[in-house]
Amino acid sequence: MQTVLVLNGPNLGRLGAREPEIYGATDYAGLVTALEAHGASEGIAVEVRQTDSEAELISWLHEAVDRQIDVVLNPAAFTHYSYAVRDAAVQITKSGKRLIEVHLSNPHSREEFRHTSVISAVATGYIAGFGVNSYLLALTQLASK
Ligand code: DQA
Repeated sequence: MQTVLVLNGPNLGRLGAREPEIYGATDYAGLVTALEAHGASEGIAVEVRQTDSEAELISWLHEAVDRQIDVVLNPAAFTHYSYAVRDAAVQITKSGKRLIEVHLSNPHSREEFRHTSVISAVATGYIAGFGVNSYLLALTQLASK
């Protein structure tokens, strides 16, 4: 069975409590449940993780390269400035696997510092602005081969 790693960056463990008017009412546990259920309906195994640590996020991206699996990545604030996360992300696409960058909100409709993504240029694709559905759309795309 195909496995997809869904990786979430800093503050996403606070979903539901953190600015729900922007990020929605679903908490992190609800996100995990929705992703696992959607993965099951698409016939793929989904491993969902969240960290506030840049080093840990990078180690998970390395793991995806070594295991040769596709990734759905919400880099959260790292999106806007982490060249270290970008350098890890590019290894996924260069190794022939797919990396889809997702965001709950639409960063381009928000503060100017959010308009820059240092990740997008090395991602296979980008889905933003649809809340939890941004992730589900990414899983559907990865399941379709
Ligand atoms: C986010 C958007 C980022 O700008 C922000 O730093 C986040 C969440 C999103 O999912 O909309 O933490 O990645």
